[in-house]
Amino acid sequence: MYKQIGVVTGGGDAPGLNAVIRAVVRTAVGEFGMKVIGIEDSFEGLLGETQTMKLTTKAVSGLLPRGGTVLGTRNSGSFCEFVDGKVTFPEGSINGALENLKNLEIEALIVIGGDGTLAIAQEFSKRGFPIVGVPKTIDNDLAATELTFGFMTALDIATEALDRLHTTAASHDRVMILEVMGRHTGWIALHAGLAGSADVILIPEIPFSFESMIQKINKREKSGSRFTNIVVAEGAREVGKSEFYQDAGSSQSAPRLGGIGDYIRQKIEEMTGKESRCVVLGHLQRGGSPNAFDRMLGTSFGACAVRALNEGEIGKMVALQANTIITVPLAEAVANIKTVAADGQLVRTARDIGISFATPKGFKSSVSNGLLT
Ligand code: F6P
Repeated sequence: MYKQIGVVTGGGDAPGLNAVIRAVVRTAVGEFGMKVIGIEDSFEGLLGETQTMKLTTKAVSGLLPRGGTVLGTRNSGSFCEFVDGKVTFPEGSINGALENLKNLEIEALIVIGGDGTLAIAQEFSKRGFPIVGVPKTIDNDLAATELTFGFMTALDIATEALDRLHTTAASHDRVMILEVMGRHTGWIALHAGLAGSADVILIPEIPFSFESMIQKINKREKSGSRFTNIVVAEGAREVGKSEFYQDAGSSQSAPRLGGIGDYIRQKIEEMTGKESRCVVLGHLQRGGSPNAFDRMLGTSFGACAVRALNEGEIGKMVALQANTIITVPLAEAVANIKTVAADGQLVRTARDIGISFATPKGFKSSVSNGLLT
């Protein structure tokens, strides 16, 4: 159907991006006889003197285990403006990129990204340019797909970090705090907390109180466990307070979270007198080789995205639902983010086995997502 398509990676990198690129190229070239052009540095490569690379099957050889993205990426730039907490998409950049896509003879785009990148892709789609999106983010917060690629690798890394902190916490009788990524949602913290045996999990969806956290630490002390492991999502907040930011952002970039872990460390030391340490896992969660699951999911997403494009399913995003890759409207995929249900099954399981969310007394969740959330 298309002679030549483009592929672009946007937003923060995630393990598995190269696996998707490889699958896109192998499917487009091998199965459908298309040519593929890689756009460099997210949509920025489509502005001015365009930055692109020809992607042949040979060019993507050996990419499956490689971390990062060979195309480069940006999570700020000319395609988004942040004004008073609202995001707008500068008309000039979109139109300039559309003009260059025409000049480059790129007839359709596979866009691999999270909510921000896919919202930009949606602007291209609204103007009639054929797009298929691929959901990427270690945060796993994209609506319409049960999983994004990158999440499972980040989860492995966070779980290993908790395992390692466990032994040092126990040796020193300390409180150890692991701050993990998760801007608006606590998927990494919740899953890693369960898999890595945290005693306290703090996520943006459930505001916490220090009173409740200290109660948990004291209860453990009384029962003979003189150490406590806490995992906190960077976007978690104390009840009645706002998130912690490292910088306020600008008109071109979103505010950057960070600092909650160290704040908790200080407060715990003050309130309990117990020695406490904080580790910020940061970009270690995003860098390096994808695990087997993310290689497999990225490959499936990439191949299905090209197939969808070839079948004329444009303005869509590939998504994983009930173990099958389907397509959903891009507009639906970017309309909302997927949050952890405060009374969902995983949270309940964690509570059942004695993990605390440091929930303040009387906190009631208004969300109910049923048994299998
Ligand atoms: O959305 C992915 C993510 O890793 C967030 O969890 C985190 O807040 C953000 O990106 C960090 O971005 P940067 O690479 O700009 O520090």
